[in-house]
Amino acid sequence: MTYLERASELRKLLEQYQRAYYTTGRSQVSDLEYDRLFDELAAIEKEHPDALTEDSPTHRVGSDLSSDFPEVAHTIPVLSLDKAYSAQEVYTFIDRIHRSNGAASFVLEEKIDGFSIVLYYRGGILERAVTRGNGSVGNDVTPNVKTIKSVPLRLSKPVDISVRGEVFLPVEEFQRINLTLDEPYANPRNLAAGTIRRNKSSETARVPLSIFCYEGFWANGGFDDHIRILSELKTLGFPVDPNLSYFCATEEDAAARLVAAGLEGRACAYEDLPAEIERHTAERKSLAYEIDGLVLKVNEIGFREELGYTEHHPRWAVAYKFEAPQAQSTVEDIDVQVGRTGRITPMARIKPAKLAGSVIKNVTLHNQDYIDSLELAVGDTVAISKRGDVIPAVESVTEPNTQGNTTWKMPQNCPECGSVLEKRGAHHYCPNRQCPAREKGRLEFFCAKKQMDIEGLGPRTLEILYSLGYIRTIADIYRFDWNALVRDNIEGFGEKKTQAIARAVSDSRRTPFRRVLAGLGMNEFSHKAIEILQNAGYRSKQSLFDLVSDPEKALETLTSLDGIGPLTGAEIISGLTDPDNIALLNSLEESGLCMDDSLSEAPRASENQIFAGQSWCVTGTFEHFQPREKAMEEIKKRGGSEVSSVSRKTTCLLAGKNAGSKLAKAAEYGVRIVNEDEFLAMIGQKPVEVHEPEQDPEQDPQGSLF
Ligand code: IVH
Repeated sequence: MTYLERASELRKLLEQYQRAYYTTGRSQVSDLEYDRLFDELAAIEKEHPDALTEDSPTHRVGSDLSSDFPEVAHTIPVLSLDKAYSAQEVYTFIDRIHRSNGAASFVLEEKIDGFSIVLYYRGGILERAVTRGNGSVGNDVTPNVKTIKSVPLRLSKPVDISVRGEVFLPVEEFQRINLTLDEPYANPRNLAAGTIRRNKSSETARVPLSIFCYEGFWANGGFDDHIRILSELKTLGFPVDPNLSYFCATEEDAAARLVAAGLEGRACAYEDLPAEIERHTAERKSLAYEIDGLVLKVNEIGFREELGYTEHHPRWAVAYKFEAPQAQSTVEDIDVQVGRTGRITPMARIKPAKLAGSVIKNVTLHNQDYIDSLELAVGDTVAISKRGDVIPAVESVTEPNTQGNTTWKMPQNCPECGSVLEKRGAHHYCPNRQCPAREKGRLEFFCAKKQMDIEGLGPRTLEILYSLGYIRTIADIYRFDWNALVRDNIEGFGEKKTQAIARAVSDSRRTPFRRVLAGLGMNEFSHKAIEILQNAGYRSKQSLFDLVSDPEKALETLTSLDGIGPLTGAEIISGLTDPDNIALLNSLEESGLCMDDSLSEAPRASENQIFAGQSWCVTGTFEHFQPREKAMEEIKKRGGSEVSSVSRKTTCLLAGKNAGSKLAKAAEYGVRIVNEDEFLAMIGQKPVEVHEPEQDPEQDPQGSLF
């Protein structure tokens, strides 16, 4: 047998085993045997690259090579659906069509809440997988999609076919994976979308994505009705969602036609539609995957063609959405903001939209990855929500633009200073420290309420002083002769106002060192990190400089502190050894700012220091402490310190209601978990009741974890 024959034999065997596993849930061979065959095939392909085929199961594990996602034109129109938000609207739709096409039957499918994809097969081999994009142009994500085990790489017949489907992540897998992420995703859809756009397909392979296919377009021939198309898709090897309802004049008629088509589904009469919508809605929560609505489609392809299309939607289908988006708007432009750290934040300028009582015009888009996962282009219609009731966010593109704009791309240069942008992690940065936007950002941050709280030096005043060249750096604030504003007759700076600013600046010299340090905005010098440093005795500029004089020892000391990991530690050292930062701190000292908190602050010792030396993390919601920062104040008053996440070094987790992943982590690490009642008893605000601890289901929504 030649190596080509052996490779083909191995491919067939592995494919057969995989298919059996994904259709029956059982393996025909042991894992060991499967791996042995897989390794043999991989070895042949490595030695003889000509043995590697497009449909080889070895593509399933992905590759570590970085790939970009070239734009490719769709060869079928990738339309979206018109929407309805009530069962009545759907019923009206079916009624209207039924009146003009008395013989029309209808299929009601689940609207899978995932990521839309088009699979292109030639001669039965998966040639290309393309994102929806703007409907005519999408991104080629083939290597990533090949890692999805339920996507067939080779079909049971050598057909040329384009198939639309929805890639999704089962809810249970989402919950499991999300617990392990530093920045959890809001829902399975976002995690699936992010995974499909990973640069390395080996990373996509680690997430157990799945697919349901719902439309097929044959290059030659095809079928007369949708239920036969779905049935044939199944025969070809595509996963098709079995949870569908089929409506004809009578239930018997529907049942007979389903049987004839060889398709699973629920047979219904037209008048069952409202009840079926209700049933699907009720069963939604018990599904293994998320759906965001239902799709009603005309079954007969001939009728579909008669009904035709609008510019964006087929007239033969409608999406019934469970929840109306909170607001819809159009993206008029996307530009970028440059922050004080140089981080570039793309912002959507949208047509003003009312949302939860306010008018939204600007929405942050975070970074390029976020935009890519939305496939957002200028001109798109978007659904906007207010996450946590504060920051408006673009949830999804509800209508791609019709101007042919493709997914927005980050400029190569900083719009403020022209420097070439650098990508670090998920974000782009302007590397130029003297970039005007960064300099202004640093000034604003320093003067802001949370840092130095210098009244009169808000963003607008600082912008004027900066553009006039009076104040460029933080050190300038204390070196500037404020009388110059009056002397130079600067508009808007009368004597009274100028004096008030000068006084506020002068008063700010007495601000504690910890706030001065935070105000410099050095990486990882958050108020929290500074508090940890102060609690560990590093309360002055000198003590910090002494600490980092031996960087190796400093890292050891810093990482021994609860709440400071190796990355934060390294950033703290790099910040305190940076010549610009050293010069700035020295200049501020010369200008009379406070550089030592051990002199100015009396130890807080009025309460019994029962938590001295302990680190506490607080999570969930509390009856007696709202907001929960109040609980943290009680801990700090008694000598404890705060950590924002649970580690093995954490002493206690104070867990209120609806505590989530932190509770799971604490249990995993054996960190003591204290509930609100116990805590009240500890701080003497409630008598201690002696009872066996009971599992409170509300305290432990993810109880199955333990
Ligand atoms: S049919 C022309 N069926 O919902 C046919 N779409 O805006 C249009 N979706 O982009 C699609 N489940 O990503 C169809 N059973 C289903 C679906 C479905 C999810 C998504 C798809 C599409 C969007 C509709």
